[in-house]
Amino acid sequence: MIRFNNVHKAFGENEVLRGFTLDVNEGETVVIIGFSGTGKSVAIKHLVGLLEPDQGSVHVDGVEVGALTRRELYALRAKIGYVFQFAALFDSLTIAENIAMGLHKQGHLTEEEIPERVREALALVDLDESVGSKLPAELSGGMRKRVGIARAIALRPKYLLYDEPTTGLDPVTSAIIDDLMLRMQRQLGVTGIVITHDMRSAYRVGTRIAMLYEGTVRQVGTVEEIRQSHDPIVRQFIEGRAELGPIDAPEDTATVTPPVTRAAAPSA
Ligand SMILES: Nc1ncnc2c1ncn2[C@@H]1O[C@H](COP(=O)(O)OP(=O)(O)O)[C@@H](O)[C@H]1O
Ligand SMILES: [Mg+2]
Repeated sequence: MIRFNNVHKAFGENEVLRGFTLDVNEGETVVIIGFSGTGKSVAIKHLVGLLEPDQGSVHVDGVEVGALTRRELYALRAKIGYVFQFAALFDSLTIAENIAMGLHKQGHLTEEEIPERVREALALVDLDESVGSKLPAELSGGMRKRVGIARAIALRPKYLLYDEPTTGLDPVTSAIIDDLMLRMQRQLGVTGIVITHDMRSAYRVGTRIAMLYEGTVRQVGTVEEIRQSHDPIVRQFIEGRAELGPIDAPEDTATVTPPVTRAAAPSA
């Protein structure tokens, strides 16, 4: 279980989270909605220790994230998969190498077992094994997104965090990604947090929806409760979505430079 309790987080004068409280129960997929720049990404970064609260606490399975040693934090991160807005794949590594990277780092599998796990992860997102030998640039945006999910699921996490998984995708591709998120929840029992601007996606994948506004949870409820909300801010968000384009956070880039050289990277 994930528990944000009265989390405050400021960057200088910018008080982003001002008493953010939210529980995510096992087996749920909680969708976080909210206007651009309200702190949705900031909130979930607390779960993997990328940020620490100024006040309040974040617990994962009863353990306070901010109190962990470096080593304990690594153990926690093994439970939490993170799917970024853009797949953030290493552009000089093949898809299989991208997926295998975390497995090598985790060190649970032998060299022989890794390719099998990579195949399994690709199959879970309906990608053919042959995709493994391609480079990220050879894939469409939607396929890269699937690879991002495959890479996270390959580590068999208990939790999956999706930051804007359908932003920038056409409706058909978005629906495919929604289906994959549902599959992760229903077939694999993964507990999820999905940040999205896409209300269609929120309604499809959410077991509950929480709206972040001015640093706190404005409303949290079932899909029906949010759909029928009488809160003027929630309504404004839901109804205004069409006018607002996709938001690109500065740290989210389509590809990133690998920390290892091509030669040092694991071969597919
Ligand atoms: N590492 C950081 N340093 C300073 N400001 C940050 C940092 N990360 C996020 N912010 C600021 O926090 C606010 C919330 O950002 P973010 O969580 O990315 O919004 P969103 O709800 O769109 O995901 C923004 O004003 C952003 O500029
Ligand atoms: Mg964001």
